[in-house]
Amino acid sequence: MTDLTRMAAWEALELHAGKHRDRHLRELFTADARRAQRFAFRLDDLLVDLSKQRLSSETLALLLELARATDLEAWRDAMFRGERINTTEDRAVLHVALRNRSGRPMQVDGQDVMPDVLAVLERLERFTGDVREGRWLGHTGARITNVVNIGIGGSDLGPAMVTEALWPYGTADLRVHFVSNVDDSHLQQVCRDLDPAETLFIVASKTFTTDETMTNARSARSWLVERLGDEAAVARHMVAVSTNEEAVRAFGIDPDAMFGFWDWVGGRYSLWSAIGLPIMLAVGYPRFVELLDGAHAMDEHFRTAPLAENLPVLLGLVGIWNRNFLGAGTHAILPYDQRLARLAAYLQQADMESNGKSVRRDGHRVDYATGPILFGEPGTNSQHSFFQLLHQGTELVPADFIVAARSTTALGDHHLRLLANCLAQTEALAFGKTPEEARHELEAQGLTGEALEAMLPHKLFAGNQPTTTIVYDELTPYALGRLLALYEHVIFVQGQIWGLNSYDQWGVELGKQLAKRILPVLQGEADGQDLPPPTRALIEEVLQRRR
Ligand code: F6P
Repeated sequence: MTDLTRMAAWEALELHAGKHRDRHLRELFTADARRAQRFAFRLDDLLVDLSKQRLSSETLALLLELARATDLEAWRDAMFRGERINTTEDRAVLHVALRNRSGRPMQVDGQDVMPDVLAVLERLERFTGDVREGRWLGHTGARITNVVNIGIGGSDLGPAMVTEALWPYGTADLRVHFVSNVDDSHLQQVCRDLDPAETLFIVASKTFTTDETMTNARSARSWLVERLGDEAAVARHMVAVSTNEEAVRAFGIDPDAMFGFWDWVGGRYSLWSAIGLPIMLAVGYPRFVELLDGAHAMDEHFRTAPLAENLPVLLGLVGIWNRNFLGAGTHAILPYDQRLARLAAYLQQADMESNGKSVRRDGHRVDYATGPILFGEPGTNSQHSFFQLLHQGTELVPADFIVAARSTTALGDHHLRLLANCLAQTEALAFGKTPEEARHELEAQGLTGEALEAMLPHKLFAGNQPTTTIVYDELTPYALGRLLALYEHVIFVQGQIWGLNSYDQWGVELGKQLAKRILPVLQGEADGQDLPPPTRALIEEVLQRRR
């Protein structure tokens, strides 16, 4: 593997950044009257406006050169061919097969996976219909009115985010809840108002060994059995989604009530699989298929569009530019859409668990920055919290503004106000407010002399914060699927350029291992002499308080 920072394309970008870095967006827009049009990229009704990123046509050309030099297209094609690009786990990365609506085969190890994918979808469709239409009843013969998904990470964040995003397509007759945290408060809060006779639990875990999920699942089972007074109730009130049939059976869920997926589906890329069952139950199977259709449209675009028009490639490259050449350590996700309230949390796992790595695929340590810290909240709420730092702080914070042109649930002029705020913020972040403008404003307010001079520095906005604006007609299941697949492929593009394996997650292991050593000490079953002194001290402290 050639060292990234020694590639001619990288060096050319560094040289270019040296000259370009300090150019202000004001200057870039003044120099090019058609900048807004020139940097607008589209796929059907999806607009990705890169004009407020701090780059020029030359920057983009150099970034595309970097993509070519790092064999991006060859790696993309290898992923779609089902090659084992997740090398440390020796697995293919084929979540695109889960939403392959083309009828074409997709292979892993020479085997077409599509018949299995479609067979599970068929079972899910049947089960979803049975629950929603009252053919699948609880142990006492009552209809299911509440579904609780027990899962964590990829077995929670995707379905939870999408279910919330698609609420207008749901029904009050069937409510879907999510329990992820091992903190008993989560399960207890969700179950407090539920009737066990009408509640269905989905135990969602790729491995079916994750401690948080299994602990919650055991407690949920006890809750059911205690209240319904019969062990047999489990069969009507618990189903599983997993790749581990043996563990599902050992837990006491019949494989007939299990929906499978495969090791070539990464947890954080799994909402398109049976892990999407809570989404299907919430909005109905046909809507779920629309979500898959939207994702498939983006897959096809990513697979076939020339690099210079390819939205995931362009967005990925812009991220590389901001991270490696402008030095941004964070990336804000700002959906101007309350329905996307959990998007940032979902993308935090998708992106940070994929590209939060400092060792390359070949085992060498990187000498450049990789995945940024993602954070975000819906606009306009975030305007009233952390936007102050974006406008007048000392950090460079690239941000994605995501907004639908119209609301699905239109109410008065709410959506126009939302849009006005979204567009205003990207303008403010780009152009800021100059001393002349601020002075003029203060004078208009009647300030003069020392009072004006004292106030002036506080009223300045440096601007030049890079933003991308993503606009689509309406947040339909299709548009959402397309948007999520866009972000998934951006992660692929960046991971590939950084030379990472974006599909393993060894960094989550250490804490899990240590928790396994600490638990027996807290339970009084081990003395903890092998633990480091600060851990022992804290254990002693909490045990004392519990006594
Ligand atoms: O701890 C991280 C992780 O392995 C994630 O990658 C995964 O999404 C999550 O745990 C849950 O895993 P599982 O679905 O196997 O319970």
